[in-house]
Amino acid sequence: MLIQASIQALQSHVPLNEQQIEDLLEIPPNANMGDIAFPCFQLSKMLKKSPVQIAQELAKQVTSSEIQAEAAGPYVNLRFNRYYFSEQILEELSTKGWSVPNLGQGDRVVIDMSSPNIAKPFGIGHLRSTIIGAALYKMYQLTGYEVISVNHIGDWGTQFGKQITAFKRWGDEKALQDDPIAESLKLYVRFHEEAEQDASLDPEARDWFRKLEAGDEEAVRLWTYFVQVSMEEFNRMYERLNIQFDYTLGESFYNDKMGAVVESLQNKGLLEESDGALVVRLDEQGMPPCLILKKDGTTIYPTRDLATAFYRHDVMKADRILYVVGKEQTLHFEQVFAVLKKMEAAWVEKCTHVGFGLMKFEGKKMSTRRGKIVVLEDVLDEAAARALQTIEDKNTELENKQEVAEAIGLGAIIFGDLKNNRTNEVDFSLEEALNFDGETGPYVQYTYARTQSILSKHAASGYQEDIKQCEQEESELLGDSGWELLKILTRYAEQLVRGVQKNEPSVLARYVVEVAQAFNKYYNKERILTENMKLREARLALTQLTGEILSTILHILGLQTPERM
Ligand code: ARG
Repeated sequence: MLIQASIQALQSHVPLNEQQIEDLLEIPPNANMGDIAFPCFQLSKMLKKSPVQIAQELAKQVTSSEIQAEAAGPYVNLRFNRYYFSEQILEELSTKGWSVPNLGQGDRVVIDMSSPNIAKPFGIGHLRSTIIGAALYKMYQLTGYEVISVNHIGDWGTQFGKQITAFKRWGDEKALQDDPIAESLKLYVRFHEEAEQDASLDPEARDWFRKLEAGDEEAVRLWTYFVQVSMEEFNRMYERLNIQFDYTLGESFYNDKMGAVVESLQNKGLLEESDGALVVRLDEQGMPPCLILKKDGTTIYPTRDLATAFYRHDVMKADRILYVVGKEQTLHFEQVFAVLKKMEAAWVEKCTHVGFGLMKFEGKKMSTRRGKIVVLEDVLDEAAARALQTIEDKNTELENKQEVAEAIGLGAIIFGDLKNNRTNEVDFSLEEALNFDGETGPYVQYTYARTQSILSKHAASGYQEDIKQCEQEESELLGDSGWELLKILTRYAEQLVRGVQKNEPSVLARYVVEVAQAFNKYYNKERILTENMKLREARLALTQLTGEILSTILHILGLQTPERM
């Protein structure tokens, strides 16, 4: 609204159209320089005058009863009549809600997310993919896309040959049933240890995978069993994280779809032999060749991703495909996209690898091979336990403490991930993530609960009867800090759009902290439940709107919003 008003005020005095003006507008670096700044450098070229002179002339022309304009060097700083604009904005937001531009126009986006591997632990990389993917899902949905999430389970590949071999040699059915991931991992680790001594193991494993791809009954039976017990464990965790997928399609789903890809590569003359294997050369792209079929004729990860991409484009009718997968797979996706390009799949332009950095938990890395792992469930339990401790100290009266503690613990972990630029490496500290005074999930959740408690306190005060209508003239409805908060709230749609365009939930995470900080400042400086009815109404409206934005963004990011904490 302030942007709109600035454009209107400037429009008739400058030789630029609305969009051009909008693109130039800036938020001044500090609040006492005004609300919005318009730089005059560009006009200087057009008008052949110095930007300082233009700024001075413009300032005089633009000033009105609602907007005060002031030249500051080459800038025109605009200051809005706060009383007038506060009322306007509060009224508009309260009645019309938060409008968001329709970027997607119904385009279909497929998001490849989470995608853990059967018979291996759900890693921290999979957690990041799940959390980032789920946030992007909601962000795209809100901006007019039709979104489909796919959990691309790693349920195919030579490791299943190893798994079957190990299970047949040393496996324990009961142990696998009781603790599938741990037992699978044990077998996996043992396989690698023994394979160093025993040269028969690797060929045996390759042979089992070959049999599996060929549909051998025993191989398929054992594989099905591994998949089932692992999925049960993953699903338990998804439930705890409140995550659903539109589709769960493992790599095995594409088993019968790879032949067509290999054939098409062959027909296009793109396949070359190399040491008995078939590859697509990517020399001109400056990349190593992309392996398509191994010496023994079995398929490999890139082959399955090629078939998957075609399926998503041809059958699922995706207009865009996002792959939320760790940065360590950058080369893999560059290769897959390069091969698609060579196959003249023009839509590859709409495929994006949304990469992210490594996350360590309190300095600990993950290694599935050596069996040294941080177990996610333990981290969630620990987070909830510590959150419970804080609640016990802060609010002993709270009824549903356990539930709230789980929401806060989970919120701390999700937010602690999402507040970072996704490509950064994250060293996650539970203590930091749970700090109620830091830039954390719990801080924002707590602020939301504060807005709700103010609103209910007001509702309980029977305000219509006992508040006297104040006669005095108010120059300010919301106070300085309220005005700053309101201005921040009006930037919600712009932040959401920026987050979508960069595939960065962190834009929203940082913005929601900014909102929460501005609200707490407002709460500390101004009396919201004042006796003056006119002021109270405006200040409550601001509180209500802040609560809406906090909860909207927390839900986008995947956090819950307890009403009390
Ligand atoms: N399962 C793979 C892994 O854990 C991730 C799969 C990502 N998605 C894909 N289409 N390749 O490394």
